[in-house]
Amino acid sequence: MFDKFDRKINYLRISVTDRCNLRCIYCMPEEGVPILSHEDILNFDEITEVARVAVSNGVEKVRITGGEPLVRKGIVNLVRMIGEIEGIKDYSMTTNAIFLDKFANELVKAGLHRVNISLDTINTDRFKQMTRGGDIQKVFDGINAAKRAGLEPIKVNCVIKDNDKEPDAVEVSEYCKRNNLQVRYIKEMDLEKGEFAVVQGGTGGDCSSCNRIRLTANGMIKPCLFNDIAFGVRGLGAARAIDLAIGNKPDSGHTNQTGKFYNIGG
Ligand code: 5AD
Ligand code: SF4
Repeated sequence: MFDKFDRKINYLRISVTDRCNLRCIYCMPEEGVPILSHEDILNFDEITEVARVAVSNGVEKVRITGGEPLVRKGIVNLVRMIGEIEGIKDYSMTTNAIFLDKFANELVKAGLHRVNISLDTINTDRFKQMTRGGDIQKVFDGINAAKRAGLEPIKVNCVIKDNDKEPDAVEVSEYCKRNNLQVRYIKEMDLEKGEFAVVQGGTGGDCSSCNRIRLTANGMIKPCLFNDIAFGVRGLGAARAIDLAIGNKPDSGHTNQTGKFYNIGG
């Protein structure tokens, strides 16, 4: 489907939970976030239905995000349900990789093609500090498991403060070279202040070529990360919500006062 600025919309990002097992300082407050209640979160049938309708409207690329998708109970079943939809050419997940060691093989069997992994430093202590307690060894184990399982190409999302010459950014890049991973730098953004940037080495952040819509864990279709517009799939039905989101996709992003990365999925 095309929006009113003639952009082809063929990419759906699905946030399956707003929970996370880490607390990255730029993403979540230390105490965590108010938890959506079980009834507010779409169930697997509802999510699959949205994906099915989106694919029948021209979506060819689907990404599972969070929060951290691997903390959602039964996630492999959901990945399988979506994977069974005919017509998805690129099927990926963004994960912090903490649980990937455990899930990589099952995810491949469930039809997932590849993963993007969030990693801002390879230094054990700084990782612990930036994620407020995360164990980087689990991430390395997760990345190795993803490679063995063939969830490739593996891309690494590295959030930078300012530029890609920062020590952490350089070390992540060297680690990626050694391990055959593709690094993409994402400048730290502030949705409320309208600070956003293009993803270096990726496609995000360039409004004129934006091809995405998003589904949040509580069932809102959002045409833009940097805008508050959203359409509820429970009230409107998936087809109407997707139609309205595409029809109201803004030419470019400005600010988002209501959403956060952990519930819109970055
Ligand atoms: N700015 C840029 N990227 C962010 N992410 C989370 N919060 C921010 C922010 N404020 C990134 C994570 C992850 C992806 C889901 O979004 O690092 O790679
Ligand atoms: Fe979790 Fe990702 Fe947010 Fe870190 S950036 S707290 S890993 S959702």
